[in-house]
Amino acid sequence: MTTYGSFPGTRPRRLRTSPVMRRMVAETRLHPADFILPAFVREGVAEPVPISSMPGVVQHTRDSLKKAAAEAVAAGISGIMLFGVPEESKKDGAGTAGTDPDGILQVALRDVRAEVGDDLLVMSDLCLDEFTDHGHCGVLDDQGRVDNDATLERYAEMAQVQADAGAHVVGPSGMMDGQIGVIRDALDQIGREDVAILAYTAKYASAFYGPFREAVGSSLQGDRRTYQQDPANLRESMRELELDLEEGADMVMVKPAGPYLDVLAKVADAVDVPVVAYQISGEYAMIEAAAEKGWIDRDKAILESLTGIRRAGARSILTYWATEVAQTLR
Ligand code: PBG
Repeated sequence: MTTYGSFPGTRPRRLRTSPVMRRMVAETRLHPADFILPAFVREGVAEPVPISSMPGVVQHTRDSLKKAAAEAVAAGISGIMLFGVPEESKKDGAGTAGTDPDGILQVALRDVRAEVGDDLLVMSDLCLDEFTDHGHCGVLDDQGRVDNDATLERYAEMAQVQADAGAHVVGPSGMMDGQIGVIRDALDQIGREDVAILAYTAKYASAFYGPFREAVGSSLQGDRRTYQQDPANLRESMRELELDLEEGADMVMVKPAGPYLDVLAKVADAVDVPVVAYQISGEYAMIEAAAEKGWIDRDKAILESLTGIRRAGARSILTYWATEVAQTLR
């Protein structure tokens, strides 16, 4: 046998020889504190309602939401992001239920705050789409277009009402220009400098939101391409990022996560505020569906998808698996 001296002189495989070696050299780790659970609460239901396109996820009742929040605390995750699903009859053009102190989201915020106190960050989706009868994230002008500045006034009121109801963090997800600045002002005006803003900075008009539309009983016809970003663009995200930071964002988000890891990496390189990624409903549904068919190993695929998102630069991740994964990590 021919020998080649010490060839190959460098052997990267030495650092992959055993589980403990791989664990020591791992550059990315998952920890329960990395996770935030998005949760849906539906008005007027007596039992949790399963979401067929998101096996394992439900529209909560007020009671089952409180239980999910308590489980999230026990699992050691950092936050819960609440989405309200109002009764169909309460939807209107202005999304009035979104600013009603007795609207489902506000009621749920108070319930969850009473349950968890300060042991879990209570976050609220700050957007009108669940509450409007046309399903858009803002109010419409007389031509049926989403009216940016009229929507900002609604967001300002929503921020104040959500803060009053107990949100530690508000998550503006509507992609209106100027939304972060207006919301910061609105919160400061009522003396709520303590409420943080998690800005949906780079939110793309994605086909992967499909299952979410079922989850919130969306009334949307058409799409959100006049306000959410075009999937083709990366530089545009950097512009959105600059604006959100100028306007007072405390944390910035990239959404969806998996198909946008390049955006996430670039944003994470560019800023010193915490960067958050949202692994959305379609990303969840794809893994669950493939696993159900026996085509992939569910648990490994979940951890790999989350590791990839952390590796790309996310400090925190919103994922529908938050509590489950945190439990397995403990
Ligand atoms: C808007 C909002 C959406 C999601 C979170 N906030 C839907 C949309 O923009 O159409 C999607 C989340 C998911 O798909 O998991 N309020």
